[in-house]
Amino acid sequence: MLFPSLYNLYSDGLLPENFSILASGRTVMDDEAFKESIGKSLNAYLPDDRRDSGRITRFLEMVSYCPVDVSDTASVQCLSDRIGSGNGGPIAVYLSTPPSLFAPTAQALADAGILTPTTRIAMEKPIGKDLASSKEVNDAMGALFDEENIFRVDHYLGKETVQNLLALRFGNMLFEPLWNANAIEHVQITVGETVGLEGRVSYYDGVGALRDMVQNHMLQILSIIAMEPPARLDSTAVRDEKVKVLRSLRKMNAETVSTLSVRGQYTPGAVKGEIVTGYADELGKPSNTETFVALKAQIDNWRWAGVPFYLRTGKRLPNRQSEILIQFKPVSHSIFGHKNNGAKLEPNTLIIRLQPEENIRLLIMAKEPGLDRDGVKLQEVGLDVSLVQAFEGARRRIAYERLLLDLLEGDTTLFVRRDEVEAQWQWIDSIVNGWKDSGQKAQPYAAGNWGPSSAIALIERDGASWHD
Ligand code: BG6
Repeated sequence: MLFPSLYNLYSDGLLPENFSILASGRTVMDDEAFKESIGKSLNAYLPDDRRDSGRITRFLEMVSYCPVDVSDTASVQCLSDRIGSGNGGPIAVYLSTPPSLFAPTAQALADAGILTPTTRIAMEKPIGKDLASSKEVNDAMGALFDEENIFRVDHYLGKETVQNLLALRFGNMLFEPLWNANAIEHVQITVGETVGLEGRVSYYDGVGALRDMVQNHMLQILSIIAMEPPARLDSTAVRDEKVKVLRSLRKMNAETVSTLSVRGQYTPGAVKGEIVTGYADELGKPSNTETFVALKAQIDNWRWAGVPFYLRTGKRLPNRQSEILIQFKPVSHSIFGHKNNGAKLEPNTLIIRLQPEENIRLLIMAKEPGLDRDGVKLQEVGLDVSLVQAFEGARRRIAYERLLLDLLEGDTTLFVRRDEVEAQWQWIDSIVNGWKDSGQKAQPYAAGNWGPSSAIALIERDGASWHD
């Protein structure tokens, strides 16, 4: 994601002049070997209309590589030598490492004299594995950088579709007056994936779907859906509103987790007609890590009191499908009844599909054509907007393109502030601790299904059902 994004920015002339990319990792190789591997990947993954071998070659001229082991001061020196021989311009550091390495890496860079007061640092989620460890990372980073120079990356915030939620809510008069507990019955947020472990065994096991997806991406979506209108589209105003929502999430505990959460783990099955193995087989040992989670979140504030937010995400589900469903309440009185034979009214539903295709669908009631001798018959019809069609021809960028550009330009609006991350962890910790204290286990589900059957019960108990 990172190199194709940088390449795309380069192709569009959006990178600053005299830009250079100094990559590093533990693998020992020289510049040429690294460039060759990046060149190969760009050729393999860039879409046909973006691939240009001359441009790839010119792009690779700005790339160099240093093998680095942050515990070895001498190896970090390689970075400082390369930077020292550069043009002396500002530096942005991008850490795509396990969270336990954020602080030691930043400290090693500081010890090698690489950081300046204007150096910006980006960190890929997850920031820690719980509140305590995220505080440690944030404290260590805070000792070296001002908060305005710390960029916590959640790539969902770079997605066009997620930003479109702001446009939908705050660029239209239509929805905001109804966007509250008076008119909304419940909200569903689903992020479904068909993939399994994708070779990420060492990262994923012990982390699980709750920490991997809900703690960050899903809570960011939830906070954008639920926040109060910010006064301006700037980093302080937007993040102030998001953090208020995150802090209003009702914590769970050992008693409530059993009714408010479901954990699942996929067993062998079939996804899109392909037979796939189970999680434990991919892992090579039994594990209690959840690859699916369904939650009933409650937001204790004036706007959302009593409106459940149902969240679910998982791997090896039937479809790669991310969407938000807003279920409105029924009309307060139906005028259509006739000799007990009148129309059935369905409450309105707004479905915002984020992935794979982007569209918005509003289900409304309309009259079926006819003479209505037995009473007016109504039927649910969809008002559909395909954003792909509406903006045909507009290139959909990789989420990281925008985020990298914002990092270079110093705009933190689409990055996660320290208080947001910590509020996210506080809620997640309450669930993890509830699971631990109550001994709640991951239930099996055959790959290719929407999680264990208890996930269906979680929502149906309240008289609602998942939109599959
Ligand atoms: C990552 C998770 O943050 O997001 C992965 O670690 C997940 O497990 C991925 O597959 C999903 O991102 P996207 O953009 O494909 O929806």
